[in-house]
Amino acid sequence: MATITIGIISDIHANLPALQAVLKKMGKTDYLICAGDIVGYNGEPLQAIDILKKRMTYAVAGNHDYTVSRPDQNAFSRELLDYNEFAAKALVRHRLILKRPENKKYFDFLQSLKPVNLFKIKNKTFLLVHGTPNDPLFEYFFVFENNVTTHDALTLEQWLKTGYNNSGPVDVLIMGHTHIPFVFKSEHGIVLNPGSVGQPRDGDPRASFAILKINNGEIEVSIQRVEYDIDRACEGINKLNLPKFLCSRLYKGK
Ligand SMILES: [Fe+2]
Repeated sequence: MATITIGIISDIHANLPALQAVLKKMGKTDYLICAGDIVGYNGEPLQAIDILKKRMTYAVAGNHDYTVSRPDQNAFSRELLDYNEFAAKALVRHRLILKRPENKKYFDFLQSLKPVNLFKIKNKTFLLVHGTPNDPLFEYFFVFENNVTTHDALTLEQWLKTGYNNSGPVDVLIMGHTHIPFVFKSEHGIVLNPGSVGQPRDGDPRASFAILKINNGEIEVSIQRVEYDIDRACEGINKLNLPKFLCSRLYKGK
């Protein structure tokens, strides 16, 4: 049986040079899965949405995608209070762009993304969320220095056994949101976070993504990194008049 190759990305955050570098390094895959946060923080939201709209096979909304595309302006303003000032500034800017009549298709696309996606590839059940199965949009699941502790492992095992809202066991649980990659394997399945394409926070400034292969029923995952043109990402940030900090953090991977 031929090997199935699946590219997994998350937290692109409108960083076009990073997205382009990841897709180039990834090459052709059978599927492309996105764990959310296409927009926010960086300078090229429309371009990032445009590429992913065409390429993604399975996706979910991230908290930034969800907030920026709230139908109601008051709900948007209220929700902004939950974000730090840098994130909030970028969301305001991105919403202004997305609200222009000519960009309606991008706004609608973000709004169409659901917080949970449960699907099968080659008889393997996948559960895709941005946060966690408890709170698919907003909850963070951090691992300590890329290592899963025994305590974490219990939580992850539980999610593999119960799925989302007791949907049943899953073979692969994909989460994003923390911008820190990890892979956890157990007899029940695999949990992974591919890290962040557009704003890595594990101290490594290279864009992060995952490749998952299914071969004869066996699943194999690797986290991969790729350098990209951070100067160009910063030009995008400056063009939108976003805070300088959003640029400097990219060089540090923090
Ligand atoms: Fe994010």
